[in-house]
Amino acid sequence: MKTYIVGNWKLNFTVGEASIYLHKLLRKIPNYRDVEVVVAPSTIALQPLSLQIDRHKMKLCAQNAFYRDYGAFTGETSFSQLRGMVDYVIIGHSERRYILGENDKMIAKKVAAAVRNRVRPILCIGETESERAFGETADVIRDQLTGGLSEVADDDIEKIVIAYEPVWAISSVKGAKLASPDEIGEVVKLIRRVLTDIYGAKLAEKVPVLFGGSVNASNAGAYLMIPGVNGLLVGGASLILSEFADIIEVAKKVSQ
Ligand code: 13P
Repeated sequence: MKTYIVGNWKLNFTVGEASIYLHKLLRKIPNYRDVEVVVAPSTIALQPLSLQIDRHKMKLCAQNAFYRDYGAFTGETSFSQLRGMVDYVIIGHSERRYILGENDKMIAKKVAAAVRNRVRPILCIGETESERAFGETADVIRDQLTGGLSEVADDDIEKIVIAYEPVWAISSVKGAKLASPDEIGEVVKLIRRVLTDIYGAKLAEKVPVLFGGSVNASNAGAYLMIPGVNGLLVGGASLILSEFADIIEVAKKVSQ
């Protein structure tokens, strides 16, 4: 399996800044066949960046889209509008769950809409600090995973990427802590077990599982060495060109 390095730019960069960043990144990194580099700019930058990107080197990812293809949904962008423009979409990010009020039902519809429109979903799941403290991590992971995948048929599970992002490890969260490889490894094992329960071992093995939460160039190697981790979802560090390029280099070395 490839190693996935996904940069989630969140609400950062103007279209101009995003374009300059992409230009520099394209020049800086070689074409690594075994590392899938993905960048996720704001929706407004997707169209111009789709014309600029070299798809042999990296792929484009939306940070969100709506589950209906067209209609009276003011302010929304549909997967049918993004179809062909982006390769991936982040769905169920904790910032959308807890700040924008998305629930598992909406997330499931978005995953289905993405698959229907040939955009590969990166389904984010992860417990909050208090859920972990109360021993609820396994239940939360199981619920978010089964909920988010409830509309995904066996034939389509290979198209899904799962990202485990413990909310308490996201750098922008107050009092964020670094997740330890053991803590991550345990949840990643559980994710694989839940996928196996639903889809069988053979299909479950094909689903890439990424880790996200305060990843930087110094800790990327350790996180990528965790058994079952197939890549990283990077927030803050992906906004710094040299740091993101270094993470890609680490992934290249680890995947050799
Ligand atoms: P940080 O890497 O800034 O912790 O963000 C993680 C994240 O939310 C990526 O989606």
